[in-house]
Amino acid sequence: MCGIVGYLSHEEKPVVSIYQGLKKLEYRGYDSWGIVYLKNKRLVAIKEIGKLKSEPTNLPESVLALGHTRWATHGGITKANSHPQFDCTGNIALVHNGIIENYYLLKKELTQRKHKIVSDTDTELVAHLIEEKVEKGMTIEEAVRQVFRRLKGYNALVVMDKMQKRLLAVKTGSPLILGLSKKANYIASDINALGEAEELIILLDGELAEISENGVRVINVSDGREIPKQRIKMVEIEKESEMGEYQSFLEKEINEQPQVLERIVQEDGVQIKKIITLAKKMDKVILVGCGTSYFAGLVATEKLIKKLGKWVITVLASEFDTYVNLLDEKTLIIVLTQSGETIDVLDAIIKAKQKGATITSVVNAPYSSVQRVSDVCQMLSCGMEKCVASTKSFVAQMAVFDIALGIDLNQRIKNIKWILKNKNKINPLAKMISQKQHLFILGRGKMLPIALEGALKIKELSYIHAEGMAGGELKHGTLALIDKDSICIVLVSKENTNEMLASGLEVKARGATVIGIAQRKENVFDEFLPIRGKEDDEQTEAVVWLQLLAEKICDLKRLDPDKPRNLAKSVTVK
Ligand code: F6R
Repeated sequence: MCGIVGYLSHEEKPVVSIYQGLKKLEYRGYDSWGIVYLKNKRLVAIKEIGKLKSEPTNLPESVLALGHTRWATHGGITKANSHPQFDCTGNIALVHNGIIENYYLLKKELTQRKHKIVSDTDTELVAHLIEEKVEKGMTIEEAVRQVFRRLKGYNALVVMDKMQKRLLAVKTGSPLILGLSKKANYIASDINALGEAEELIILLDGELAEISENGVRVINVSDGREIPKQRIKMVEIEKESEMGEYQSFLEKEINEQPQVLERIVQEDGVQIKKIITLAKKMDKVILVGCGTSYFAGLVATEKLIKKLGKWVITVLASEFDTYVNLLDEKTLIIVLTQSGETIDVLDAIIKAKQKGATITSVVNAPYSSVQRVSDVCQMLSCGMEKCVASTKSFVAQMAVFDIALGIDLNQRIKNIKWILKNKNKINPLAKMISQKQHLFILGRGKMLPIALEGALKIKELSYIHAEGMAGGELKHGTLALIDKDSICIVLVSKENTNEMLASGLEVKARGATVIGIAQRKENVFDEFLPIRGKEDDEQTEAVVWLQLLAEKICDLKRLDPDKPRNLAKSVTVK
């Protein structure tokens, strides 16, 4: 969360390019944004609340500039809490992605030492801590190293040093990547924002990068020793995803799902097949993910149990600690993550590695942290997913496991195309749901993760409380909520038809309107969306209907489809 982009240029360069870079990073947070640049030996900052709406016209040229788009953690959404943050002298500016866990202790110390703290952020404290060390005669670089070692938690910081005209970047957990070109050098949270960089260097945890007029240098934060770094050519990296003919990235990403699956079929899952071979040899197989990726893990788990005939479980990365003591060398971890930067997932990987487990992953973002720390990594090849709500990556995550298990995807591709062509079928349903505050989505067995994912899409995109749940669980409590105003979507797979129709009847008997997503129109359904494919394709078809439904409700409610409130695409804080 939070996006960082900065440059040091050999010649003056329009500072507005930082704004353009921030636009590409806005998916990481859009509560507020800010830019600091060097002008006439002074640091000048602008800050705005909310999304990056209109390009500033009054930004000058500068050789040094740094920007930040914020997802608020410490302190409300105010200009004062926006980054960059400054020290008391105004000479040190910095931007930050992460959470400083020993914030209270550091704030108490600084307040006692009479620093003028003007924001509620944890970020500002770092500027004051650096200031103190510089006042005592330390170089900024040494001060950044020492202060960074005091910070607890996962943090990425970029400090602007106006005296020596340079940027100092340091990180643990949250990503930072350097971009190199003949005209300017860059630092950013994501490759996407690296300007016209020709090569990149990936900053690892515990490394500090200096971008100065002498070029780029990386040192070890602990001992200050220089670290030789590999430079990667930018050519084969997709830097930007354009919206093209679509009204939103959500629409684009839902519509490109058939092409994503075609690509997955062509690539034939070389790495995922290796992961499945490893799974056969291991005693324990644990899939790990968050949000949508966790639900894709649940889908895969059901299939792996059937195929491997052994215990396979899916664990929420944020709940991984419960299982850590059971891990050993005969454990295979399969991480699912679109961004490859989700901090809960990275934290789980570190703990699993310490126990000797083998780490494998299914990742969409190239050069991401999870890809780098995995023993085997299957790339999703989805192309950049920009909408905060995941769609194509979920369908792709399901598909790569299917490819490895020998399932043919060709009919699935045709059926998704058919659904996309017939998406108007959901219009009356979307209208009906858009007037409600609650929605229930019921599934069993293989359809339970789809019910959960569908509910998540509806929540994120329409702000309607949607509850995805196991049909069998209804009578254990939730049925108390069902009345004649309720709408229940019932997901019926071939293997659970009778049980799901029973769930449909239970809610219908209490007056609920029942929408069936199923192979056949049944009497219990008031409304019906068809699944046309064979058993292996049922989940994908159902989820595409639910994605379209969420998109339409979002549209009817005139909400932002790409940037739902309070969320960010890449969750790099715990
Ligand atoms: C929901 C959504 C999130 C992510 C979750 C994990 O639409 O996008 O729930 O799935 O934050 O993100 P990744 O897959 O990047 O680890």
